[in-house]
Amino acid sequence: MITVANLVKRYGDAEILKGISLQVQKGEVHSIIGPSGGGKSTFLRCINGLEPFQSGELRVGGHLLTPMTNPRSDARLLEAVRRQVGFVFQQFNLFPHLTVLENVIEAPIHVLKLKRSEARQRAERLLARVGLSSKHATYPRELSGGQQQRVAIARALVMEPAAILFDEPTSALDPVMASEILALMEGLAKDGQTMIVVTHSMGFARNVASQVHVFADGYDVESGPPSKVFGSPQHATTQSFLSQTAKD
Ligand SMILES: Nc1ncnc2c1ncn2[C@@H]1O[C@H](COP(=O)(O)OP(=O)(O)OP(=O)(O)O)[C@@H](O)[C@H]1O
Ligand SMILES: [Mg+2]
Repeated sequence: MITVANLVKRYGDAEILKGISLQVQKGEVHSIIGPSGGGKSTFLRCINGLEPFQSGELRVGGHLLTPMTNPRSDARLLEAVRRQVGFVFQQFNLFPHLTVLENVIEAPIHVLKLKRSEARQRAERLLARVGLSSKHATYPRELSGGQQQRVAIARALVMEPAAILFDEPTSALDPVMASEILALMEGLAKDGQTMIVVTHSMGFARNVASQVHVFADGYDVESGPPSKVFGSPQHATTQSFLSQTAKD
C-alpha cells in the first residue's frame, strides 16, 4: 500500500530525514514514536505529497513520487496521492465557517464529484459511526476538542482512503477525550483500516499497532512488532525514550 525507500528530506542544509525505508501493507497499523524534532511529522507530510524530498522514492497505492515530482506539473499526481491518503492533524483543522455535515461532505462533492445526496448519505453514516449524529448542523467552535477530532476522522473516512495518516491526534485533548479517540481509532484498526499513527500514546502503539517505528534525529532507529520494541528494545535511543515516557 505504501512503500518508502531511502527517503531523504532536507530543509536548506539541515537533513531532517536521513534515509527512511518502510513498508505498510493493506490493513496494517504502523505507529511512529520518538523524541520531539525527530522528523515524524515531516515524514507523514512527505507521504501525503505535502513536502518535496531530495532523495529516495515513495509509492502510494499505484502512484510513484520521486525528487523529480513537481508540485505544478505533477499536480494531478499529487491530487491522486492525497485522495488515497487521508490526514488527521493534532489541531483538527476543520473549516470554521462550515457545519459538521458540510465539513464532511465538502471533499466528496468537490474532489470525488459525488452527488450531494450521495455524499450526504456517506457522511451521515460516518457521523453516526463516530457518535455525532445529533451534531450535523453544529459549527466546529460549538464542539469540544474530542468532538472536533471525531469530525476530522469522519472527514478523512468519507473519502474511503487507502490509508489514513494521523499526526498526534490526541495531543490537544484531555485524557478522557484522548482515550475516546484512541478507542475509535482502535475500532478502525480492527475493521482493517490501514493507518500510520504518530503518537505519544504508548498504550496505543503497544496494543494496537502491528509495527512500531522509533524515529530519532532523522533515522528510523528501531522498528518491529510492539512486543519486541517495547519488550526488549535494542537501541539506546529507544531505551532512553521509553524510560522517559514511562516517567511522564
Ligand atoms: N518548514 C520547515 N522548515 C525548516 N525546518 C523544519 C520545517 N519543518 C520542520 N522542520 C525541522 O525538522 C525537524 C523535524 O521536525 P518534525 O516536525 O518533523 O518533528 P517531529 O518528530 O514531528 O516532532 P514533534 O514530536 O515535536 O511533533 C525539526 O528540527 C524542525 O525544526
Ligand atoms: Mg510532529
